[in-house]
Amino acid sequence: MSSRIAIIGAGYVGLTTGACFAHLGHDVVCADIDESKVERLSRGELPIYEPGLEQIVTDALRSGRLRFVVGAAVAAAECEFAYLCVPTPQGDDGSADLSYIEQAARQIAPVLPPNAVVVNKSTVPVGSTKVVERVLARPDVKVVSNPEFLREGSAVADFLKPDRIVIGSDDQSAAIRVASLYSSIAAPLIVTDPASAETIKYAANAFLATKISFVNAVAAICENVGADINDVVLGIGYDKRIGHDFLRPGPGWGGSCFPKDTRALVKIAEDASYDFNLLKGVIVVNDEQRERMVDKVRSAAGGSLDGVVIAAWGLTFKANTDDLRESPALAIIAALVKEGAIVRAYDPQVANDLPGVEVHSDAFAACEGAAVLVVLTEWDDFRLIDLDEVQRRMIGTEIVDTRNLLDRAAARRAGFMYRGVGR
Ligand code: UDX
Repeated sequence: MSSRIAIIGAGYVGLTTGACFAHLGHDVVCADIDESKVERLSRGELPIYEPGLEQIVTDALRSGRLRFVVGAAVAAAECEFAYLCVPTPQGDDGSADLSYIEQAARQIAPVLPPNAVVVNKSTVPVGSTKVVERVLARPDVKVVSNPEFLREGSAVADFLKPDRIVIGSDDQSAAIRVASLYSSIAAPLIVTDPASAETIKYAANAFLATKISFVNAVAAICENVGADINDVVLGIGYDKRIGHDFLRPGPGWGGSCFPKDTRALVKIAEDASYDFNLLKGVIVVNDEQRERMVDKVRSAAGGSLDGVVIAAWGLTFKANTDDLRESPALAIIAALVKEGAIVRAYDPQVANDLPGVEVHSDAFAACEGAAVLVVLTEWDDFRLIDLDEVQRRMIGTEIVDTRNLLDRAAARRAGFMYRGVGR
């Protein structure tokens, strides 16, 4: 059954949510405040790189199931459901800033049709459905939590084939109406109260970040005891209670979610009179991991980075995305530049120079005259690259592989000194 859905906010979450709902057969109007962005989207031009999304948007535009408009009120005027997909950035005190959510609610309150349902899709602190209800001041309009679990680089797949759908509402009929939007998706459906739904979202991201900080901490121990983190992860991961997923060591987690959501959960806990020391430790380990990567590059450069040419492969916060937000690669490169290094970078999704960084058009060009090559993002482009050609371009023989991406034996055969993480 097709429903009329308004999406407020055409960012990573809103654009994917709107396009996928249209793909499922619903009539979607997606609103943004940026007029030029709305024009580009209406032509099928996406401002973000997300595998599979462009085709879905193009098909939905052509079928007329997806439209883009300027302004939340325009989208909400005829809708049955209004999805709030606006940013919830980190406030100065670590808490999530709800000003965009409240602004969107104020804009749609006067035009929402009777008995419409407002849905919080953005990651919002526990208790936010009540904040939105208060701002709406529409007793006939119920507010439901329906958190997203989309990973950048696989957002379309994560929406259409989710591990689970979570709906939080104090009103059973509103929950059932939201659940009906997903009726063509086969996935476990969890209907709970709003506070539990909002807590599920934060707890999920915090636990995933914990897994990564844990493996990065064990990797540091492996380096000092002569163990190989790849074998350690293989060995522990066969225990079904642990699993192998999300235990890849690296430069630390980044992106627009983990850094923001872990700090927000520490603040939510603090406001709930609980000192979340464990999660604070996860954040500390993550911050230290970037410093450890800089130490590795400095050591590979012989102890000083001043005037040293460093080739950097990867700038985005992870592979298969164009997103640079909170990218560990950028933080590490900034630290290298601060110590006098000259950084030449290549990333398949980044074309323009960044402050203090020459961005080149291919991986080999970035290696010209470099003393050290540092791999920062796990793009497949780097996995099987011709290391003999890399060697010919470089003046040094040092590789720091912060993602354990390259074949260590092949690197050594090509004459490189290889430093990985935890091995
Ligand atoms: C995350 C959650 O996975 C997703 O469910 C939620 O909706 C939004 O936040 P995302 O931030 O897009 O998704 O990326 P994710 O794949 O989770 O990676 C987050 C960070 O962890 C990246 O910097 C990535 O490089 C790093 N990472 C991930 C590791 O270092 N090791 C791993 O094993 C996995």
